[in-house]
Amino acid sequence: METFATPALVIDLAVVERNLARMAGYVKQHGLSLRPHTKTHKSLFMARRQLEHGGATGLTVAKAGEAEVMAQASPELYLAYPALDRPRLRKLADLARRGVNLRVGLDSAFAADAFAEAARAAGVTFGVLVDLDVGYHRTGVPTPHAALELARHVASRRGLRLDGLMLYPGHLMHAQDLDKELAAVQALAAETLALWKQSGLEARVVSGGSTPTAFVTHKLPAVTEIRPGTYIYNDMNTVDGKLCGLDDCAARVAVTVISNAVAGKVVLDGGSKTFTSDRNACRADAGFGHVVEYPEAKIVRLSEEHAEVDIAGCARAPQLGERLHVIPNHICPCVNLQEQVWLKRGPDDLVPLEIEARARLS
Ligand SMILES: Cc1ncc(COP(=O)(O)O)c(C=O)c1O
Repeated sequence: METFATPALVIDLAVVERNLARMAGYVKQHGLSLRPHTKTHKSLFMARRQLEHGGATGLTVAKAGEAEVMAQASPELYLAYPALDRPRLRKLADLARRGVNLRVGLDSAFAADAFAEAARAAGVTFGVLVDLDVGYHRTGVPTPHAALELARHVASRRGLRLDGLMLYPGHLMHAQDLDKELAAVQALAAETLALWKQSGLEARVVSGGSTPTAFVTHKLPAVTEIRPGTYIYNDMNTVDGKLCGLDDCAARVAVTVISNAVAGKVVLDGGSKTFTSDRNACRADAGFGHVVEYPEAKIVRLSEEHAEVDIAGCARAPQLGERLHVIPNHICPCVNLQEQVWLKRGPDDLVPLEIEARARLS
């Protein structure tokens, strides 16, 4: 029985455990390493469960603030983000000085020099993965030759240790011909690794997929390690991307119907400050999340604290005061908005869970 105030995020632990077991089983079966991206849950409890399932060699973070929190769960952290400004570098160097084996992904000589300077000043070493753009076109050097040039630069800098290559094949979420696009990613990685080898440079780690490609990583033989984040909870993006079913979504926002005064709609007590305004990445006509109890309902408009739901398609109208549950389009930023969530350990067993790395944006 849910007796807490709404809106509130409820995490079903049984579904989490199933999602974690599936990913751990996959990496063990294929001899891959797993570094779950903790930006999805931002919780030490969840990070520890990911490690306890096995197959994980450490954790991934995006920000120095997240690294400070997640260092309490693992001393093996990968910062998949070029956090090159001095205040953050000082925090990262502090962590390394306290025994964290910190590796960072970067795509410029500028970032490499900044990390090297901070490492030397603190008397530590940062591991480095060179970020190669394999098609998402967000970060990453553009070609295997550019990756070689940057790898040489990294290898020449005191304070840095060249560990390998990073890829982010996030664009494959929308692949028309997945096998063909995977082959293109593999070809880029293989060409890069061959160039490095000819130059006497070794890539001990090739860090690859996120949730959309996690379970096809065996088709990318160059990849040694994956960094999925969303898989722990899933969301409407992974459902509509045909990566999982609704039953695999562990996180639902409990809300209350607070108004039905305007004809044809009801209003829920959560808006963009609860769900974020993220649209569905796979279905342009979808609303701002899936109402579990009324699948025909569509959340058509959000303001900060209101969700307006078009109920024209519903056989029965949701009633004032009724409690509903919404699976958000994109769970990661939604979690970041919650100070605390409710962990559902059984039908009548809900306990509060703090989100320790919430709002750690720098
Ligand atoms: C660099 C990087 N690696 C891994 C991930 C994990 O992606 P996902 O949550 O889709 O598993 C992300 C997601 O933003 C990312 O930016």
